Amino acid sequence: MSAPGKFITLEGVDGAGKSTHLDFVAGWLRQKGREVVVTREPGGTPLGETLRGLLLHQNMDPDTELLLMFAARQEHLAALILPALARGAWVLSDRFTDASYAYQCGGRGIAAERIAALETWVQHGFQPDLTLLFDVPPEVAEARRSAARVADRFEREADSFFGRVRNAYLDRARAEPSRIRVLDARQGIAELQAEIGRLLRELE
Ligand code: TYD
Repeated sequence: MSAPGKFITLEGVDGAGKSTHLDFVAGWLRQKGREVVVTREPGGTPLGETLRGLLLHQNMDPDTELLLMFAARQEHLAALILPALARGAWVLSDRFTDASYAYQCGGRGIAAERIAALETWVQHGFQPDLTLLFDVPPEVAEARRSAARVADRFEREADSFFGRVRNAYLDRARAEPSRIRVLDARQGIAELQAEIGRLLRELE
């Protein structure tokens, strides 16, 4: 049996530009001969993608939103993430549980304890090996978002919402500095990619 793979997550407020860097990270790892599985949350499985459609476009109570995020995550872990890691693949996810702390706790105001209880239920202590947090001030993210396609339920939130989301992400990074690495996403793509490459080498 090969060694288990590693789990890398990308995080940041909407408009931070993390999706641009997903391909770079996947390509970097594949060049090293790794099997790479690229996935996203909410989503990543047929059921998860159905839940994503509801989460992004259907109005609902904040607790319903939180529970559906974790229902999608349970399915994602059981059907895709854990089996892939067990066979030695590296899994790259566009968002994971830090997003629930940032959006549902920071953004919507749900108590962190409720999120922690669901995290324990679904993850049993499982955590990403590395989280890349793409950080930008809310006004920069806003400008990038408005250049994008039709906004979903989250992207339509006010700047104050994204300010709280950003602060919640940064608080988590301060609490877990060796897992969550903050990248200044205002930098140019070349500078950011050089920094990402350095962080990936540390993980190898
Ligand atoms: P996002 O990852 O930004 O995808 P896209 O680039 O296609 O817009 O969209 C997912 C949205 O879901 C994002 O606004 C954040 C939100 N989200 C949460 O609120 N909580 C979570 O736990 C997760 C995983 C995502």
